[in-house]
This record gives sequence, structure tokens and C-alpha cells, in this order.
Amino acid sequence: MGFREYRVGSILFGVALSTSMMITLYMPSLDISGVSSTATALEKQLTYGKINAFDYGDLFLHGTDKPIKVILKKNPATGAVMDEVAAYVFKPGTSFPSGLKHDNILGDDVQALSVSLGKMNKATEAKGGVFLVSTKVTNGVETPYIEFATATRGWGVDATLKAASETILAGSGKTMFIREGCWWCHTLLPEETHDWQSFGRPPMLGDFNGESPTTFGSDRKAPDLLHVGSRNSSKEWMMLHFFNPRLVQPHSIMPRYDYLWGGKDAKGNVIDLNKWDVEFNAYRDGERVYPPEVPDYADDSEIRYLIDFVLNLK
Ligand code: HEC
Repeated sequence: MGFREYRVGSILFGVALSTSMMITLYMPSLDISGVSSTATALEKQLTYGKINAFDYGDLFLHGTDKPIKVILKKNPATGAVMDEVAAYVFKPGTSFPSGLKHDNILGDDVQALSVSLGKMNKATEAKGGVFLVSTKVTNGVETPYIEFATATRGWGVDATLKAASETILAGSGKTMFIREGCWWCHTLLPEETHDWQSFGRPPMLGDFNGESPTTFGSDRKAPDLLHVGSRNSSKEWMMLHFFNPRLVQPHSIMPRYDYLWGGKDAKGNVIDLNKWDVEFNAYRDGERVYPPEVPDYADDSEIRYLIDFVLNLK
């Protein structure tokens, strides 16, 4: 009879294992298709492009193969002045985010509008194009959708880049955020607690459709950054703080990211980090009145990507 317990045990073990396998395999797909994307989710899709932790297109996480977010104040097709909008430019060949490729993850309503009004299914990776997040109001309910502005408004890639009043490389910046491990200390997830008061509103269900990794972080050693661009929009402060956090917070535990400048400043001059250190240490020890200057960054530097990403978190 002693054998019975083993049998019961192994049956129970089998049931538990197969249930957990079913949940692991089928839960994510069930969950996502039932939830409609919010405008935030669509903006993230279009800002970050193909969202993946590791992919063969950018194995060493240099932030390549990403769309370009631009701010437009005039119509790229006609040149006429218009209300400011954010547009997302995919140069030919830039990989599409999952929302454009597998549009069922957008949720039924958003998917239907993106195809009918937005003409989203006319877009191809090979040709690229320009996208917008638009909204349709029916009976007072707003539904966001993806609009393929190249098809609906005739906005070409080059014309849109030329008409842009601001260019934001936040997609490449998210890659920097992942690569540099900012999420070891920072969260991107204010909670439903008094977090509201300091870090702003928690995310909503539907804000994450198609995003992976979400870079929530897990263990908060530093301020939540989900809305950091709303409370601190200073590029100059970010430059000082990333070059050496001790410039603005004398006891900061945050590491320095001066190497993201890439060795050259905006004018192409070599940045001498050793000289900078000597001068900074003299300042710290009270032998200098001012700390050394932080160099301006080059337009194609990794620090520019990172700062664009951080300031775009609104
Ligand atoms: C070792 C932990 C740690 C790491 C890693 C880290 N930070 Fe921080 N960060 C902090 C702390 C602590 C603060 C609070 C202010 C300070 O001490 O400088 C901070 C502050 C900030 C702020 C200002 C927040 C606010 O509320 O105004 C920003 C922006 C920021 N960090 C971005 C980053 C980014 C981007 C990375 C990755 C490149 C990063 N941090 C990596 C610990 C960290």
C-alpha cells in the first residue's frame, strides 16, 4: 500500500506542472487581446519602434534601427502653419514595432480604427513612412488609433524630417536605459500609494500593449522616472547629473555616465576625462571655487539618446 502515496503525489505533481505550463503559455495571449491599447501604448510603440530586450538587429545595444520622433509646427506636405503635433518617422528599412506587425495586440477597437481610418496596413518596413497617434470621438468616448500619415496626408519621410522643429531620439535612448542598467535603481512604475504625490499617476491597464521589456524595475533605490520629464525638463541639469551626479547631489550614489559622451564634444574636440577628474577632485577638496565645465554633447552621441529618452518621459 505504501506505493499509493507516490502515485497520488505524482498525479498531483503532474496536474500542478501542466496547469502552470498552460498558464505560462496561454495567459499572456488571452490577457493582451482583451485589453484595448491606450494612447500611451501607441505612443510608446511608435517612439521605441521594435521593442525587444535583445535582438539580432542590434546585438550590442547601440540603439540603431529605431524610429525618430519629431515635433511638427508646419505641415510637411504643404508648408502651412498648423497646431503642434508629434509624428514618428520610420526611415526605409527601420523595423516596425509589434503593434504594426501583429495588430491584434492593439485591442479590437483600436485595431479596427487604425486599419479603416488610419490606413495602417498600407505601411511596409521596406518603404518606411510617417505615423501619428490620432483620436476618434464617438458618443463622448475617445479611441486612439495609429494613423499612417504617408497614406492619409501624403507626408513623406524626408519632407517630415526637414519640416521638424524638434527631433527626439527617445527610441535609441530606451536601448541605452536598458543597456546601462538604470532599472537596477530606478523604477518606471509609480504605485497606487502616496507615490502619486511625488511621482505622478500610476500607469493604466492598456499602457503596455506590445511593450517588452517594460523596464518597470523591481527594487527602488532611486526616484521613479515614469514622469520625470514633467517635473524636470532641464537638459542642462541632466547633462551635469549624468556626467557626474556629484555635481548636483554631493552624496549621490548614482554612477557617472561620462563615457556616454563618446570621447568627443559637440565641436569634435577630444574630452580629457582625466584632466576633468583632477579638476573635479580639487573642487571637491575646496581648492577650486567652481567645478570644471561639462562638455556639450555631440548630436549623435549616446548621451543625447539617453537624455532625449528621459526628457520624453512625461
Ligand atoms: C546605483 C543606483 C543608480 C543607478 C544605476 C542610476 N541612478 Fe539615477 N539616481 C539615483 C539616485 C539615488 C537618484 C537621486 C538623486 C541623486 O542622488 O542624484 C537618481 C536620480 C536620477 C534622476 C533625477 C530624478 C528626479 O526625480 O529628478 C534621473 C533623471 C536619473 N537618476 C536617471 C538615471 C538614468 C537614465 C540611469 C541609467 C543611465 C540612472 N539614473 C542610473 C540612483 C541611480
